[in-house]
Amino acid sequence: MDKLVVGGGVPLRGDVRISGAKNAALPLMCASLLSPDPLVLSNMPHLQDVTTMLRLLAQMGVVASLDDRAGLELCAASVKEPFAPYDLVKTMRASILVLGPLLARFGEAKVSLPGGCAIGTRPVDLHIKGLQAMGAEIHVEQGYISAKAKRLKGARILMDLVTVTGTENLMMAACLADGATVLENAAREPEVIDLANCLIAMGARISGAGTDVIKIEGVRSMFGTAHRIMPDRIETGTFLVAAAATGGQVRLIETDAGLLDAVIEKLRDAGANINARRGEIQISMKGKLRSVNIRTAPYPAFPTDMQAQFMALNAVADGTAIVVETIFENRFMHALEMQRLGAEIEITGNTAVVRGVSRLQGAMVMATDLRASASLVVAGLVADGETTVDRIYHLDRGYECIEEKLSQLGAHIRRAH
Ligand code: EPZ
Repeated sequence: MDKLVVGGGVPLRGDVRISGAKNAALPLMCASLLSPDPLVLSNMPHLQDVTTMLRLLAQMGVVASLDDRAGLELCAASVKEPFAPYDLVKTMRASILVLGPLLARFGEAKVSLPGGCAIGTRPVDLHIKGLQAMGAEIHVEQGYISAKAKRLKGARILMDLVTVTGTENLMMAACLADGATVLENAAREPEVIDLANCLIAMGARISGAGTDVIKIEGVRSMFGTAHRIMPDRIETGTFLVAAAATGGQVRLIETDAGLLDAVIEKLRDAGANINARRGEIQISMKGKLRSVNIRTAPYPAFPTDMQAQFMALNAVADGTAIVVETIFENRFMHALEMQRLGAEIEITGNTAVVRGVSRLQGAMVMATDLRASASLVVAGLVADGETTVDRIYHLDRGYECIEEKLSQLGAHIRRAH
């Protein structure tokens, strides 16, 4: 099992290019199921999750190829098998995003329940409830969701919770439904907007993406298009935190500061000097890091996917921070690993109290989920001595070539087997 060995104490300096967003790429790949014509996606990130999604779509009969400009072309002219098996779905929950498109275009789908994951039970009940509201006949048995619908019907769907992939699944399903669908309490994440923009280019009639009410007027068929995937705002935030925590000076390119206002505001509160202009963000530290309180919530509030990284930053900041995780019920496992590095963190329910310490000591730690892995790498970059992060397959799911990118910024980091 691969490990990352990280040497601490080096301020990061230089330029880093941000990759396409994982959480935009995955739903966009599923959107290819909605049309018989090719969908060409550029700025694709090279990630394990993208490879898994490719395998899943290819298994159904989607033809994938790389065009001459490294764009990924996906063509779902015909799908022999609207089936997503457990052995693939269990490794990547986002596989659930094939359910809506398959049902909308082919009238049937059999998709494995994703099952739980380290950060929480993560049910998909709102995906199922929304599709049933659109007339789908759905049975859940032996760990599979079996769904059928002659043609989905537009419906008004009020979601009990803000769900990102739930909003994306239902928005895709509604594109080919008969009549109008209104999604209320919809997720406002930028990845939802990126998906909506691509669907509109494919012929869908969508308004309100980015607000909590999205309207979709069903059409009979959709066509192909070419779409450039938005920058990854969580990778952006992760590199910004690493630069601040190590007291470095870094320029991030091919990204967009407008995607992470809440994160940038917290970094400025922590003492970082941040300048943003078209496509770039420059960050440097002036003086000591200050502790910052964090409360996660749906976009545009502070993203849960940045909570672990800010815990690493608070672990070595001046003061005491209160971190409240409101989205997932078990997203503090990185804290237990950080305590092995000397971090002073007390957890009560969904609240962590982080008392900043002057130094962390390098040690062996274990990654438990994608963003926890990233936070342990950040902690290793500031700890004295060497930190070995084990089980970094979690990291490879969502960060493209992280050790190469960090090495280019001067970090002492290497992959060990
Ligand atoms: C998306 O997951 C992201 N993944 C997650 O990123 C991210 O943490 C999450 O949104 C929140 O922003 C992708 O986009 C592929 P949710 P998703 O449905 O859609 C509950 C990463 O690190 N819920 O918005 O699965 C759920 O349990 C990953 O890149 C239901 O109860 O999250 C959670 O408490 C991790 N029933 C809350 O809603 C449902 O049917 C929000 O979950 C759906 C969700």
